[in-house]
Amino acid sequence: MSEEVIAIEGGHKLNGTVTISGAKNATVALIPSIVLSDEPVEIYNVPEISDVDALTVLLEELNCVVERDISVGEIGVDPRNMKNIPLVSDAVDKLRASYYFMGALLGKYKEVTIRMPGGCYLGPRPIDLHLKGFEALGADINYDEETGTYHLKADELIGTEIYLDFASVGATINIMLAAVKAKGRTVIENAAKEPEIIDVANLLTKMGARIRGVGTDTITIDGVEHMHGAYHEIIPDRIEAGTFLIIAAAIGEKMVIQNIIPQHLDALISKLKEMGIKMEKIGDSIVVYGNDGNLKPVEVKTQIYPGFATDLQQPLTTLLTQGNGQSKVSETIYKERFKHCAQLNKMGADIELGEACAYIKGKTPLHGARVMATDLRCGAALVVAGLMAEGKTEITNVYHIDRGYDNIDHKLITLGAHITRYMIDD
Ligand code: EPZ
Repeated sequence: MSEEVIAIEGGHKLNGTVTISGAKNATVALIPSIVLSDEPVEIYNVPEISDVDALTVLLEELNCVVERDISVGEIGVDPRNMKNIPLVSDAVDKLRASYYFMGALLGKYKEVTIRMPGGCYLGPRPIDLHLKGFEALGADINYDEETGTYHLKADELIGTEIYLDFASVGATINIMLAAVKAKGRTVIENAAKEPEIIDVANLLTKMGARIRGVGTDTITIDGVEHMHGAYHEIIPDRIEAGTFLIIAAAIGEKMVIQNIIPQHLDALISKLKEMGIKMEKIGDSIVVYGNDGNLKPVEVKTQIYPGFATDLQQPLTTLLTQGNGQSKVSETIYKERFKHCAQLNKMGADIELGEACAYIKGKTPLHGARVMATDLRCGAALVVAGLMAEGKTEITNVYHIDRGYDNIDHKLITLGAHITRYMIDD
């Protein structure tokens, strides 16, 4: 068997401007949301990532007409002849977010059959909060263990109060999708506040939903009978932007990260400043002036938004290998999200794992090696490492990276990185 690798010749300083694409974690919820509409919906600033390919397959299985123009990042979906068929194909397995069809189809048809979703393994990722929410709205839930398939059915969905034990991004969005066409008022307490949730609510509102309080702990949804066509532009990807900020801090001389909402990155920006990185916010851009070889170690704890994003702790870990002293990264969202550390150690890092945390001893020079992207943001951490390391780094399992980063090779090459892709034998 042969497989594709991303190969990076490290040590080349990066300069120039990078434009950030639409947010993956908004996109993967916005696309399933469209099925709630009775009319065509168009979305702009859609990133060119393989998660969108998988969602497009699922829309087509549901008999939606999908038109996608990758060159301008547009997707148009016509759901007028939709059929509520069971979603049990391999496309469901390709990403976690296929579960947003659960809420959206339940909302529209009061019935859905769907296989358990796939996605990155970050430790156990239960969906109990989603299911409790659907149940509270009136759905009966059956799970067929043999096929790994859920069947949800309700005579009608009736608005109610739902308290989330944890402010889960996925559960907040999924319950919102089911509730927009429920009878009466649904109140989600302890809702998540991530910017991607606000983006989804914005599209739903344009489609006719009545939603208040998104971005706070309490979201109130008054059900409507029909939803109509809309146009929507996706917010910039704060995690892609954060990854490029870290790359700029690691190996940039002067880099401009543009088309972003800087406020979404406040937690990362303050950590980078604490490490000694100089940067400037200018409108919808941030200019980063690299590092002077004298980075300070820091302690980071991941939190729900607006705290430090769990998705950015992995690429930040790579930068912390260059701090002068010991840094610590603690996870409160995904306690096992540390698979990147063993890969970084293969490249010369000195990282020890503790209980839901990693101790990073710096500074250690990094050298090229063959390493594996065990999940999407591990892939990002290894790209940062490859750019900094001496010699050649080969990253396997690149499909994880392509799930979430739009044209990452091209963007980095434009900044001066030396990157190629080729096939290797396993
Ligand atoms: C979203 O995952 C993102 N994925 C993740 O991004 C991100 O890491 C995560 O939010 C946290 O910000 C998408 O948006 C598609 P959660 P999600 O529900 O919705 C527990 C990336 O790299 N939980 O907020 O799955 C769960 O196990 C990805 O882009 C339950 O216990 O995250 C976790 O510990 C990976 N029961 C915590 O809550 C549930 O029913 C937060 O999960 C749901 C979640």
